[in-house]
Amino acid sequence: MTARVVSPARGPLVGEVRPPGDKSISHRALLLGAVAHGTTVARGLLDAADVRSTAACLRALGVDLRWTGGEAVVTGGDLRRPEGPLDCGNSGTTMRLLTGLLAGRPLVATLVGDASLLRRPMRRVADPLRRMGATVDLSPDGTAPVHVRGGALTGIDFEAPLASAQVKSAVLLAGLSARGTTRVREPSRSRDHTERLLRAMGVRLEEADGWLVLPGGQRPRARELDVPADPSSAAFLLAAGLLVPGSRVAARGVTVNPTRVGLVEALAAMRAEVACEPEGDDVEPTATLRVTPPAGDLQAATLAGGLVVRAIDEVPVLALLAAFACGTTAIRDAAELRHKESDRLALVAAGLRLLGVDVTEHPDGLDVVGDPDRVLRGGVTLATGGDHRLAMTFGVAALRADGPVTLDDGACVAVSYPGFWEDLATLQGG
Ligand code: S3P
Repeated sequence: MTARVVSPARGPLVGEVRPPGDKSISHRALLLGAVAHGTTVARGLLDAADVRSTAACLRALGVDLRWTGGEAVVTGGDLRRPEGPLDCGNSGTTMRLLTGLLAGRPLVATLVGDASLLRRPMRRVADPLRRMGATVDLSPDGTAPVHVRGGALTGIDFEAPLASAQVKSAVLLAGLSARGTTRVREPSRSRDHTERLLRAMGVRLEEADGWLVLPGGQRPRARELDVPADPSSAAFLLAAGLLVPGSRVAARGVTVNPTRVGLVEALAAMRAEVACEPEGDDVEPTATLRVTPPAGDLQAATLAGGLVVRAIDEVPVLALLAAFACGTTAIRDAAELRHKESDRLALVAAGLRLLGVDVTEHPDGLDVVGDPDRVLRGGVTLATGGDHRLAMTFGVAALRADGPVTLDDGACVAVSYPGFWEDLATLQGG
């Protein structure tokens, strides 16, 4: 844990940044590449701790994976039994998707992770995979270590109890090697990167009556892929651009996949426009996103339902923005945030309170009392829980404080955005 002191902004933030590659898509490119026919080339892959965890696990499974600069070259083939436990680090996506991928392969593996990952719920993936015929053992609390004994699977109809792209993806990845058809339906549409990439790699995956329908016994075909920039990383730069008067900030090359742009929708509800200039559309639509602080005040809004699913990783920074809105913002249907890399609702509430914001915590959300003219309290030390997205949220908050703010861990941004502090400094002309 390395503490970091962040100073208030001395002037506007101005400039264009290309945030790093999308984390979700980077994991999927490696995982699908590992079982595809042929050699997959993924450019612009996120070089950060979480994706490195996926790469290391795949290598331990015998995958030929070369990764230099921003380009990964993965040759698909049979996975072999790993010699030791597969270390997923801090990455829930690695653990859940890999469990799904292994469930239908003839090998035994144990998946472990860091202290945060060992606390996160895994029954949500174990249950449907067991129904498909895999043996998946967890701790009595339903957490990792995850012991998977893969084998012959049978397709199931899976009505997911919660909207989770990780759970949906685990079942689809298992369904690739199942006998018969796997169908998945979720209560609200979570990010669809797995579906897009499967189709782009030649896999037949249809949609009917709200069900995803995947005939089993399919193998993806390798391809070249450009990984777009991550909107969840862009969110922190855009929030900084909205909060610091006079700023003009743009994030280039970002995926604007409709299942990922909850931030833009939420900001529109709060009367802050994000200008979206389309760039391309290959597997994922991409755009440059531009912000300037809104002419009028930000307005409080209710952020709930499917919008929260589409902005699931942006809720902490939206709570910060809400602290500068006119009125009280209600965030609801966000109980899942208690099961992320930290209990994000509790830690955001605690951090914002220390900064002087009136926040009420609910089991599934927060009420944040806004004030457009507020100045946050500097001189405080905020607990990040080692959670990358909280460190970045509080780092942006510091820009509007009356003195330096200390984060107990500034280095954890390396999980998803290793160059975050440098990019923030560049926008500040530093
Ligand atoms: C992810 C899905 C989301 C998200 C996480 C990445 C993915 O998690 O919060 O950062 O890549 O599928 P859940 O599926 O648990 O909602």
